[in-house]
Amino acid sequence: MKVLVVGGGGREHAIIKKLKENPQVTELFALPGNGGISFDATCVPIAATDVDAMVDFAVKEQVDFVVVAPDDPLAMGAVDKLAEHGIPAFGPTAKAAIIESSKVFSKHLMQKYHIPTAQYETFDDAQKAMDYLQEKNQYPIVIKADGLALGKGVIIAQSFHEAQDAVHAIMENHLFGKSGNQIVIEEFLTGPEVSVLAFTDGKTIVPMVSSMDHKRAMDGDRGLNTGGMGTIAPNPYYTREIADRCMKEIFLPTIQAMQAEGRPFKGCLYFGLMLTPKGPMVIEYNCRFGDPEAQVVLPLLESDLLTIMQAVVEERLDQVEVRFSQGAACCVVLASGGYPQKYEVGFEIHGLDEQGNLPNAQVFHAGTKRTEDGKLVTAGGRVLGVTAVSDSLLCAVKEAYSAAASISFPNLHMRADIGRKGLDA
Ligand code: AMP
Ligand code: GLY
Repeated sequence: MKVLVVGGGGREHAIIKKLKENPQVTELFALPGNGGISFDATCVPIAATDVDAMVDFAVKEQVDFVVVAPDDPLAMGAVDKLAEHGIPAFGPTAKAAIIESSKVFSKHLMQKYHIPTAQYETFDDAQKAMDYLQEKNQYPIVIKADGLALGKGVIIAQSFHEAQDAVHAIMENHLFGKSGNQIVIEEFLTGPEVSVLAFTDGKTIVPMVSSMDHKRAMDGDRGLNTGGMGTIAPNPYYTREIADRCMKEIFLPTIQAMQAEGRPFKGCLYFGLMLTPKGPMVIEYNCRFGDPEAQVVLPLLESDLLTIMQAVVEERLDQVEVRFSQGAACCVVLASGGYPQKYEVGFEIHGLDEQGNLPNAQVFHAGTKRTEDGKLVTAGGRVLGVTAVSDSLLCAVKEAYSAAASISFPNLHMRADIGRKGLDA
């Protein structure tokens, strides 16, 4: 089988390494991939957002199966266009991907179908938003741009002044472009956060092992929000009892709601949850695997990933096994100093073998490049994810850090406390 994976980050590398375990997969392509992925797949220099070029390539190469991993091409209808050419692709249609690409849509969906989430109002007019803030006068308050904003579209305002600045920046200065034409203003919630990724074919939903992201750039959850600086799985706060409650109150109602709206969701649905004193609530939906959640969840998957993905596309998820190991995993992200703001790239990475691997951990390349003379150099904000799988969370954390310590490049930045909150739970 010829399989194509769209995307070029750590998440895509984790998907590719897992797909490679299936002996039926004889050829793997990555669009565009990256330096490390090039050891596991043929990298094709087509941007993940160039949907027409992607479809042309898949047709020309007679690809048998496509995995569209990032949000942008999903929102642009990549899966729909591949299907028009008879190419099966894992991921939601554009109609279903809206669950991530519009927060206004997802909030209205949750309200309509009684799925627990923060109370909110939506606005397409800055003045009305300001009037509401003045009237509400409760802080902190959360302000979200409607559309995709690279994970940066959420502002937690501590005062009227900060809230006013946020509305001004998003709606009048177009900080996130068109993504900010509408905003959501919602209640500030508290409690531990849990990420749950789930396979769904629109009718059946099978949650994967839970995980915990570490979104802030600095130790102790300080600094700016990033795409994610590290993850652990399972998430110790997510007990059996909470999982059962989420299935009944959140997961099943969500796929049933999407079905009822004529937007059946097929692919990986990501539930960003907060375990509030009032019970589990949805903070956000993503229409794809999380990054770096995939880098801890997929290494714990014991069943065959391609078999599950094919079952999702063919709407027979109820007929396949989705089994996870009882162990734990920790992924530590090695980033370029300065990320998520300005940072330098092009530095040689030391400590990896010729294939970009380590002997005692899994290395997922996020922002790396191979130079003409075969060196691996940094090429992005998040450079590598180092994942260890072990019997316990404590061992996984220790092993991930000890492996990460053997890697170096000049402006390397990593958090020293990935997993600490989980271990204290
Ligand atoms: P998002 O981009 O939607 O994942 O939001 C980024 C982060 O903002 C989340 O991981 C939460 O930590 C925080 N957040 C979002 N919405 C709320 C809320 N209503 N109350 C408290 N924190 C929130
Ligand atoms: N790690 C969070 C995300 O993928 O959106």
